[in-house]
Amino acid sequence: MISQHWSRDWLLYLLPNAGPSGADAKEYDMKVQHLLLGLAASSLLGSVAVASRPAENGRSSLELKEFMGHVMQRNAEQVWAWTALEIDKDGERYTRPQNDQDWENAESDALTLQELTYSLRNSRAIAVRDPRWVEHIDRVRVAARQSADAAERKDFQALLLAANALNDACVSCHLAFAPQLEGGIPAYPGT
Ligand code: HEC
Repeated sequence: MISQHWSRDWLLYLLPNAGPSGADAKEYDMKVQHLLLGLAASSLLGSVAVASRPAENGRSSLELKEFMGHVMQRNAEQVWAWTALEIDKDGERYTRPQNDQDWENAESDALTLQELTYSLRNSRAIAVRDPRWVEHIDRVRVAARQSADAAERKDFQALLLAANALNDACVSCHLAFAPQLEGGIPAYPGT
């Protein structure tokens, strides 16, 4: 936390060689005071609050439910939107990337999802010890990578396959760790 305890010496300790000596020192002290006042004010606004939470160590603390509902789902929907099946009175058709910009965007959406798998894997808040957990995350990553590759090649069939593989990857992890989301695991016939 920023507090009145900050002193010029403390700042000079942080910024070696930063302070002048002799005649310029007084003016420098005033500048330091202004700086400290500015820092104190900004700490009131909360903009330096992160400095007081170094324990996160650069890793996410977003809870799993929030990550899934707000981050994973939203980004997967963007990927799936490029291969959505539309049905109306004129028949069925896929919404598909129409031009170079669309293909670029489809690739960006897939790469965003791919990167999110690293976020999930390295989260501080979500630490599941079961080894299948990581395998399921990897499966999402592979599907996202395939989607990005397909978009780069402008290969719609491959994009479609990757979208299905992505869906399978989400569903299979849910079946393993949150079966209620997918309507439960189907009962074995005869049981
Ligand atoms: C590594 C396992 C795993 C993978 C992969 C996974 N999920 Fe999940 N997901 C879970 C678990 C576990 C929950 C239940 C979280 C809870 O309720 O605390 C969940 C919950 C959800 C929820 C419900 C969130 C809420 O608000 O209740 C959505 C939506 C979701 N996941 C979407 C996805 C999508 C889309 C994908 C694939 C792109 C995906 N998930 C991949 C494990 C996974």
